[in-house]
Parts: sequence; structure tokens; C-alpha cells
Amino acid sequence: MKSIAVLTSGGDAPGMNAAIRAVVRTGIAKGWEVYGVQHGYYGLMSGDMQIMGQRDVGGIVQQGGTVLGSARALEFKTVEGRQKALRELNKRGIEGLVVIGGNGSQTGAYALSEMGFPVVGIASTIDNDLYGSEMTIGVDTALNIALEAIDRLKITASSHQRAFLLEVMGRDCGYLALMAGIAGGAEFISIPEIPTEPEDIARELHAAYERGKKHGIIVVAEGAKYNANALVAYFKEHKAELGFELRATILGHIQRGGAPTAFDRLLATRLGAAATSALARGEYGVLVGMNKSAMTTTALSVVVANKKTVDFALIELQKELDG
Ligand code: F6P
Repeated sequence: MKSIAVLTSGGDAPGMNAAIRAVVRTGIAKGWEVYGVQHGYYGLMSGDMQIMGQRDVGGIVQQGGTVLGSARALEFKTVEGRQKALRELNKRGIEGLVVIGGNGSQTGAYALSEMGFPVVGIASTIDNDLYGSEMTIGVDTALNIALEAIDRLKITASSHQRAFLLEVMGRDCGYLALMAGIAGGAEFISIPEIPTEPEDIARELHAAYERGKKHGIIVVAEGAKYNANALVAYFKEHKAELGFELRATILGHIQRGGAPTAFDRLLATRLGAAATSALARGEYGVLVGMNKSAMTTTALSVVVANKKTVDFALIELQKELDG
């Protein structure tokens, strides 16, 4: 192998830059040329890729986002789109591709590898919903941002004896909401995996108030049965029965920005190095992830066929911890 390419795809995640840097530098150390592809699969299809040198990735380990740019490219889902990409790769003599991204991106990576091209994926999404890696790039940073928001809300909630609701990201997966809620001592956590009714939340908060609590913090994942806006509207409409209104903060994309934590930089660096090692030993069509603290590979066919869920025991733990 003489030449590889690297791209970032899907929602950006803090730590992606550290992964790019590791792929570029460990690739160069192996004697390869490393192309950086702009804007995910779009750049792959349009041929927007440039050879990167050691210095091109200098000073990025501490930056959030991705210097290569990212996108959700619908055209890559088509065979024609992928054929375009293959033509661009072959034209340049590129023999391997590293795809840094989450579920949608790894589905694309799998489709390309099924067409015979050597691809290795790197597990990266703030949602932590990708099968094949216990932790994905960006989760730790996003979690700490959500936690800071909870800590701040708790202070003002206590001052006013109010109920506050924080909505965090997670379209299909409640990992961020669950972990941030436990770490922040929330009174109620609502996630997509367990549909909850507004009445359940009201009951829990009333009980907490009876026990002498001065605040009520509810953490909701954006993909929960009732998201923040729906809950605020419901509580307003049913104030007479439910007894109080909710004030909501939607954290949104704030969770995806910001400098990566030490954990995310280290995870991304190790995964980047593991990806070029996999390509060097001819192990293709796999996702590199971290399991039991070690770098592992899982076939992309297995990754895309499975769904990672939250640890349901932690939901029970949260209920016991709510004093
Ligand atoms: O997959 C990561 C994620 O941040 C999800 O939590 C969220 O639902 C989605 O991306 C938002 O995507 P976009 O930035 O394209 O609106």
C-alpha cells in the first residue's frame, strides 16, 4: 500500500481532528501518501482531496470540529454515487480509505467495501450509539458540556424552587441523557428507549418536592417520546392537573462544539493509529473501536446489522440514587 485517504462524515464530533492527525502522521510514518478528503463523501465523489503533510495537521489536536469538513451525503447511498467515488480514488492510485463517523457514515463505508475497496471505519459520534465500540469519539466532551449545563440549571432551580428541563442530543439513543442525568443528579431522565408520559414526570417531581427537594431537574433526549417543546406545551396546557410549569433549555449543537477533552483526544489518537495499522496488515471492511480499554476491530457488516442500546441497569440505579 502506498497511498490512502481519510474523511470525516455525518455530525461532527470533538476529537475528529485528533483522529485525522493520527491517521495522517501514522500513515506518513508507514511511508504512505495520505489524502485528506473535503466534506465527507461529497469530496470523495467530486474528487476534492489533497495530499496532507505532517505540518498540515499541526495545532489541530486541541480543536473541536473537523478541519476536513463534514456532511451527510445522500448521493453516496446510490451505487452511481459510490462508483463516482471509486473512479476518483482509482484515478489517484489511492488504495485504502479511512472513514471517521457514526452509523450513517459506517453504512456508507460498508457499502463501499462491499464494492471491493479497502475501507476501515473509525467510531465517531457524540451519540455513542455505534455498535462495535464501547465509547465513540466526541461522547466524553458532549457529556461534560451537558453536565455543566445541568450543574448551572440546578443552582438557579434551587434558588427559585422551580422545575427545569434540559434537552440533550440523541435522536435514537438516550446515552447522553442517561449519563448526564446520573452524573448531574437529575430527578428524572427521559430517553427514546423507554417511552414516558408527562404524568410520570409530574408524579416524580411532586414526590421529590414532598421529600424536601428545592429543585427538579429533568433531562430529556431529543428523540424521547415527548421532547422539550412537547413537554413544555403539555405542562402548560395541563397546569391545573399537573400543578406546575416547566422551563426548558435545549442544548442543541452547543454539545458538538468546543475543545475535545483529554479522553476524546486520546481515544481519537489511538483509533487513528489503529486504523492505519489495520490497513497496513490488510484487515479491511472493519470498524476500529475501543472495547475493554483495548483497540479492537469489528466487521462493518456486523456493525451496520446491530444496534447499540443503553445499559438498562443504569436506569434502575438512577431511580435508587434519587434521594
Ligand atoms: O448524530 C449526531 C447528532 O448530533 C444527533 O445527536 C443529532 O440528532 C443529529 O446529529 C443532528 O444532526 P444535524 O447536525 O445534521 O442537524
